[in-house]
Amino acid sequence: MKKYMQAQFNELKTKQDLIILAIESSCDETAISVVKNGREVLSNIVASQIEIHRRFGGVVPEIASRNHLMAISSLYDQAIKAAGIKAEELDAIAVTYGAGLVGALLVGVNFAKGLSYALKKPLIAVNHVHGHIASNYISHPSLQPPFVCLMVSGGHTALMKITDYNKFKLLGSTVDDAAGEAFDKVARVLGLPYPGGPEIDKLAKDGKNNIKFTVSNSLHSTLNFSFSGIKTSVINYVHKFEQKNEPFNKADVARSFEEAVTDELVDKSIRALRMTGLKKLVIAGGVGANSMLKAKMTKACKEKGFEMFSPVLKYCTDNAAMIGSAAYYYIRKGMGLAELDLTARPSIDL
Ligand code: KG4
Ligand code: ZN
Repeated sequence: MKKYMQAQFNELKTKQDLIILAIESSCDETAISVVKNGREVLSNIVASQIEIHRRFGGVVPEIASRNHLMAISSLYDQAIKAAGIKAEELDAIAVTYGAGLVGALLVGVNFAKGLSYALKKPLIAVNHVHGHIASNYISHPSLQPPFVCLMVSGGHTALMKITDYNKFKLLGSTVDDAAGEAFDKVARVLGLPYPGGPEIDKLAKDGKNNIKFTVSNSLHSTLNFSFSGIKTSVINYVHKFEQKNEPFNKADVARSFEEAVTDELVDKSIRALRMTGLKKLVIAGGVGANSMLKAKMTKACKEKGFEMFSPVLKYCTDNAAMIGSAAYYYIRKGMGLAELDLTARPSIDL
């Protein structure tokens, strides 16, 4: 059976200019963007719910879905207006369909389906992780595969070998917590607001690396990660002082934790480069905004003769421009066309 809008989709494969409207609603950012030819962002509107979730110390899924629903239609109008185009000029509608919070994803997916049907434009289903990787294509116009990608976000931590725009091979991933999750949980025990990653980043600058927190050694011979052990060590360290009602230096805790985690991320990234023989390292995902990680990775890559890329800050954390960029390469490679029965997938393979 022919797919919904297959003929129109096939034409896009070779059409000179592609203008894609992309939607992202996998967690607590509602975002809509219009992207031309995968790299030129015509508009990028992000409505963050961080302030709403902060009082709960983390994202409350039901509240996230409701706020996506309230925001999405007006964001669409803003994105079209800011791009200076008419809706009819769009070539395709792209949407994150996973991984993420199912209720949150469903808002974007259903809105995208409605648009696709009303505007008669092909619907492209994008894997959120592929979007994070593509955020680097927007930030670095000449960047092309092959490269090794260190994907570090609130939901994922992985090393991948990217040999083409649509060829992703998993080299290693976390066996427990994602790096961002560990940052957020450590921040929480230190009484810092959500999201904790940027708070630890700031606080660590005032601290000393004088507490011995170590990342589990059991995965040393692999490219897999484990951050749950170090997270628990930090929590136990803090609780011990709290139980005795004794003061401790929060900045030193943040610094010592951040040093250990970033050393592990840099060490395994360099090993992945050596193993694959590739010369470029690309960082993707929210934790890619971490200043210590970027500084250490830049230094290590420079010393060892590798090139290092990371997205500009606004494309590091969740946004829809990266989804539009990923969708462009999907279309050029003839993949991603979805039916109108597309549904949200809380977890999908990298
Ligand atoms: O990619 P992202 O926006 O959402 C997911 O797909 O998960 O990543 C969010 C994660 C959160 O855990 C947040 O604390 C972390 O990225 N993060 C950071 C920094 N900025 C954001 N972690 C460490 N340092 C930062 N500067
Ligand atoms: Zn993300």
